[in-house]
Amino acid sequence: MRVLVTGGAGFLGRWAVKALLDRGDEVTVLDDLSNGSEANLAEFPGRVRLVRGDVTDPAAVVDASRCHIDTARLELIGRMRSPGGYIRTRDAFEIRRLDFAEWQAAQAKR
Ligand SMILES: NC(=O)c1ccc[n+]([C@@H]2O[C@H](COP(=O)([O-])OP(=O)(O)OC[C@H]3O[C@@H](n4cnc5c(N)ncnc54)[C@H](O)[C@@H]3O)[C@@H](O)[C@H]2O)c1
Repeated sequence: MRVLVTGGAGFLGRWAVKALLDRGDEVTVLDDLSNGSEANLAEFPGRVRLVRGDVTDPAAVVDASRCHIDTARLELIGRMRSPGGYIRTRDAFEIRRLDFAEWQAAQAKR
């Protein structure tokens, strides 16, 4: 399966990416590195595509989603920067299918 891991350069991301690669998945990570690090993915040279960008930036999402139509997306972002500081988005990660219509809409806006 092709999996897009948002926040995949974070603490849990390293373990999630490792588990996905170990089971043979193709992995792309979308992370702005605000609280993560490329070092967390250093043990997977050439096996993970890292797109550095914000999940709220449509261009970054489209870039990261390229080649990932009909795949799963694993969300590992628990808090996000906002003008007032950080806002909490969720207390646990979630996994869901990528919505193809959503991807197409983002593509059309490019
Ligand atoms: N670490 C734990 O023990 C634990 C336990 C239970 C639940 N969780 C939940 O799991 C999730 C991940 O936890 P973690 O410890 O790996 O956190 P983390 O901060 O290490 O990882 C989150 C990643 O998201 C990235 N990120 C943040 N905002 C972003 C944005 N706007 N665009 C792109 N990337 C962005 C950060 O750079 C970071 O790499 C969170 O939702 C957390 O609440 C964690």
